Amino acid sequence: MQQIKTMEPAQVDEVCRIGRQNFTHPWSEQDYMEHLKDDERIYLVAECEGDVAGSCVFFCSFETADLCNVTVDERCRRRGLAEALLREAFERCLDKGVEQVLLEVRESNVAAIGLYEKLGFAVISRRRGYYRDPQEDALIMQKHL
Ligand SMILES: CC(C)(COP(=O)(O)OP(=O)(O)OC[C@H]1O[C@@H](n2cnc3c(N)ncnc32)[C@H](O)[C@@H]1OP(=O)(O)O)[C@@H](O)C(=O)NCCC(=O)NCCS
Repeated sequence: MQQIKTMEPAQVDEVCRIGRQNFTHPWSEQDYMEHLKDDERIYLVAECEGDVAGSCVFFCSFETADLCNVTVDERCRRRGLAEALLREAFERCLDKGVEQVLLEVRESNVAAIGLYEKLGFAVISRRRGYYRDPQEDALIMQKHL
């Protein structure tokens, strides 16, 4: 059974393990722990049979939220976990008065762009050479809640 829940400190280890699978510069445990309880941030995990299988982080500031990351364990992809994480985060954003969500994504990240487009994001601009290791442009995407 799949469930979306608020991230608990005891789950940060596993969240970081999944982050290391997926990112050149993954967040550290300290990055998560420092802000886990901050009111303006949304930290969610997707659990599959009780195990952490994915996570997402949003920073909310007044009417705008930034989607900082969304990651799903390689073994659990294409089962709707990322979509469920983001839909729950959008609900929590609305509760905080957020009106729009912004994000940056590598232009080669077909899976993430497919996910964001499915959920109603549109490209609004490009930052040339924004990413390193390897260097690549970022697409900036926006969704009105
Ligand atoms: C992007 C990512 C989070 C998607 O997770 P997921 O749980 O597999 O995604 P879902 O199963 O919820 O898919 C939802 C939709 O996203 C799109 N999508 C997901 N994976 C895709 C892929 N490989 N290619 C194209 N579209 C894809 C599809 O539209 C999909 O809907 P569908 O299954 O009805 O076709 C996952 O591939 C991942 O962790 N990637 C590495 C980390 C990353 O790049 N994160 C984004 C930047 S922070």
